Amino acid sequence: MSETTGTTSRWDPDGEEARSLRLRAERLWNRDYVERVLVPCLEIPIGGRAVDVGTGFGALAFLLASVRPDLEIIGIDPEAGLVEGATVVAANLGLDRVSFRTADGTALPFPDGALDLAMCQTVLTHVADAGAVVREMARVLRPGGTFLAIEWTDRALLSISFDNASPVEPEQAIETYRLTKMYSLGRARLGRGDDEAGIRCPIVAHEAGLDVVDVRLNDRISFAIPPYRSPVEAGVIEEMREWLRSEGPDPGTKAWMAENIRAGGGTDQDVARYFDLTDGPAVRAVTAAALDAGTLAAVIPTAMVVTIARRPG
Ligand SMILES: C[S@@+](CC[C@H](N)C(=O)[O-])C[C@H]1O[C@@H](n2cnc3c(N)ncnc32)[C@H](O)[C@@H]1O
Repeated sequence: MSETTGTTSRWDPDGEEARSLRLRAERLWNRDYVERVLVPCLEIPIGGRAVDVGTGFGALAFLLASVRPDLEIIGIDPEAGLVEGATVVAANLGLDRVSFRTADGTALPFPDGALDLAMCQTVLTHVADAGAVVREMARVLRPGGTFLAIEWTDRALLSISFDNASPVEPEQAIETYRLTKMYSLGRARLGRGDDEAGIRCPIVAHEAGLDVVDVRLNDRISFAIPPYRSPVEAGVIEEMREWLRSEGPDPGTKAWMAENIRAGGGTDQDVARYFDLTDGPAVRAVTAAALDAGTLAAVIPTAMVVTIARRPG
C-alpha cells in the first residue's frame, strides 16, 4: 500500500462559494465516510497528481483537496464558463495545488501514464460514449494508478421518491419506472447520454483493461425530515419550494424530454403520463400542502455506484 496522509479537513467555512460547494459535497457524501473510507481506499501517494474529469464547478476536486491538500488536482471540463468559475473558487479558497482547464474527457491533456488518480463524479451518464471517457482515463494513469468513478445508479431505479404527502401506489411506481426506462433508452439512442452508465461502470472499466478492485455505493441518501435540522435537509426543502414556484421544465427542455421518451418507444400518451406523474398538478398540490404545514418528510434514493479500479502493470 502506498503511503497516505492522515485525515485533515480544510474547508474554509467563510464565503458563499465554499458554502454552496460544501452543501453539494455533503448532499452526496457524509464527510466521515469520505475521510475514513473512500479516500484511504484510493491509496494515492503523498504529493500525487490527479485529474477530475467533467469537474463542473469542481465539487469533487475541492472535496478531495479538503482531505488531501498535498495532492495536485487538475479539473477538466469542456464548458469554459464552469472552468472559469471553478478557478475563481480555488483562488478564493487559497488552493494553489488545485487548477482547472478546458478539455474533453475523450482527449485528456496528459501524456500516457502521467497521473496517480483519474476520477469523475456524475459525468459518465452525460457523455455519448462512456467507454471512450473511461479508456482515456485509463490511458493517463501510471501502472498501479487509481480510477475512481462515482455515478448515479440508474435513473429508472432512482425515479421513485418516498414522502408522507403522496404515498406511492404500486401501479404508480411501476408506471414511473416503465416511463423512465423509456426515457433512458431514448436518450441513449439519441446519443444524449446513458442513464445506466453508473450501474454499468464496473463492466466498462473492466473492458477498458482496468483491474476493478472495489465496487461500492456512496453512503448518503437525500432526506428531509422535520424539523430539517441539517443544511442538507434545508437545501432539499428549498429546492422543493423552488420547484413549486417554477412552472416546471421550460418548453425547450420539455420538448427535449419528450423526444427522449418517443425515441424510447413511447407514445404521446406516455409523454403526457410521464409529465403528469413527475410534475403534474396532483403531485404539486399535495407537496405544497405538506410543505406549508411543515409536515413533509421525504427520502430520495440518490444512490451512486462507486467504482474503484487500478491500471495493471
Ligand atoms: C452533472 S455535472 C457534474 C459536475 C461535477 N463532476 C460534480 O460532481 O459536481 C456533469 C459535467 O460533465 C461535463 N461533461 C459533459 N460532457 C463531457 C465530456 N465529453 N467530457 C468531460 N466532461 C463532460 C459537463 O460539462 C458537466 O460539468
